[in-house]
Amino acid sequence: MTETNRAAWGSKLGIMLASAGSAVGLGNLWRFPFCTAQNGGGSFLIIYLICSFTIGAALVFTEAALGMKVKSEPSDAFGWIHPRLKFIGGLCILTSAIILPYYNVVGGWILAYIFKSFSITSIKNFGEAFTDFSSSAFEPLLFFYAYMIGTAIIVYMGIQKGIEKFCKIMMPVLFVLLIVLMIRVLMLDRALEGVKFFFLPDISKLNGKTMLDAMGQVFFSVSVGMGVYITYGSYVKDNTESVSRIMWPVVVLDVLISLLAGLTIFPAVFSFNIPINAGPALIFITLPKIFASLPFGQFFGLIFFIILLGAAATSSISLMEVPVAFLCDRMKFSRPKAVVLFTVFCLITGTFTSLSFGKLGEFKIAGKILFDQFDFLASNILLPLGGFLTCIAVGWILGSGKLVVFNNSRLQKSFEFCIKWIAPIAILLILLKGIELI
Ligand code: TRP
Repeated sequence: MTETNRAAWGSKLGIMLASAGSAVGLGNLWRFPFCTAQNGGGSFLIIYLICSFTIGAALVFTEAALGMKVKSEPSDAFGWIHPRLKFIGGLCILTSAIILPYYNVVGGWILAYIFKSFSITSIKNFGEAFTDFSSSAFEPLLFFYAYMIGTAIIVYMGIQKGIEKFCKIMMPVLFVLLIVLMIRVLMLDRALEGVKFFFLPDISKLNGKTMLDAMGQVFFSVSVGMGVYITYGSYVKDNTESVSRIMWPVVVLDVLISLLAGLTIFPAVFSFNIPINAGPALIFITLPKIFASLPFGQFFGLIFFIILLGAAATSSISLMEVPVAFLCDRMKFSRPKAVVLFTVFCLITGTFTSLSFGKLGEFKIAGKILFDQFDFLASNILLPLGGFLTCIAVGWILGSGKLVVFNNSRLQKSFEFCIKWIAPIAILLILLKGIELI
């Protein structure tokens, strides 16, 4: 399993920023705002925060510790716990094969909107413009292919020269730009209304669906349940640093960026009196409309879509690295071959998800178009399932005491308790409730 010539991160900061890059993405800037809006604001936020710092953090640590120990891709890592558990690695690959084809379609939209932001002031009806764009066949596909190939090139360039280098540049830029944008938006009239909606809980909105959505959001946002940190952890050369020290900042940054996104998007929406529950189109319709009416609107629109592109790309590469590592470690493919194979697969599947907004809109599975069905299946079912199996594998079969993530023994004990009891029970309850079995 342990190969001496295995790729490795160049520095501790490298793995930290690459992991934070995986976590911070469209989940924070695109999915979090519309999920929060659809689930009643503040009350959703509370569950999201609680889940992030308990189940979310515990799973990030577990995955990273497993990867650092076994130094191989997820199915080998689970196989090390017990040969029968290798299938969990297969589940990880399946999940990535479902997320990438719709995640990268949104990546393509963002790329297109970077170009559109130059002519933002000439657009009359933003809703129509977005529907026309996303339901047409040619344009979104073209940008999706471009985005997908861009992602593939970074993954192709490898761990240190590709992923690490890109994340080291992108992450600080993203953070600074987001703060600039937030300050601008908070200066708008009635911005406070949005802040209130975001923070004030409405307990009557809490139900099984809200909880499932919040947990799904945490899994998606912090990138757990799919073996990303097992894979990234496997490229850590020296194991002297405690896992929690490297991974704490990832969870904190992920939550912080979601908060910044909420503090940018809700005030903007409220100050323009726009209905809040716009769904996935929120950032493509509502926000460009708002930017267009501001002085220097093109500039702020451009900044916004650059932030989105950077965040999305650092996540897409992590989604792709999992199957690529599998093909290289297990199937002994060369890296270029693995990248090309998986890219071709995503280009084909993504074509269908992209077309589900237009030509294939009639084709629905259980009442949802392909794109929505993939998102639901991945976030609300497969990721929690992957997380649940990880808890059982580590907490019960391996024994959580075998993975040391904290130097401090009290924190280590609470981590073990969380991974053995709290996380699996909570995930199971919420999953069952969400699919209406209890
Ligand atoms: N966390 C990313 C986001 O917020 C998406 C993502 C990247 C992801 N890698 C993942 C989600 C692995 C689940 C599993 O946009």
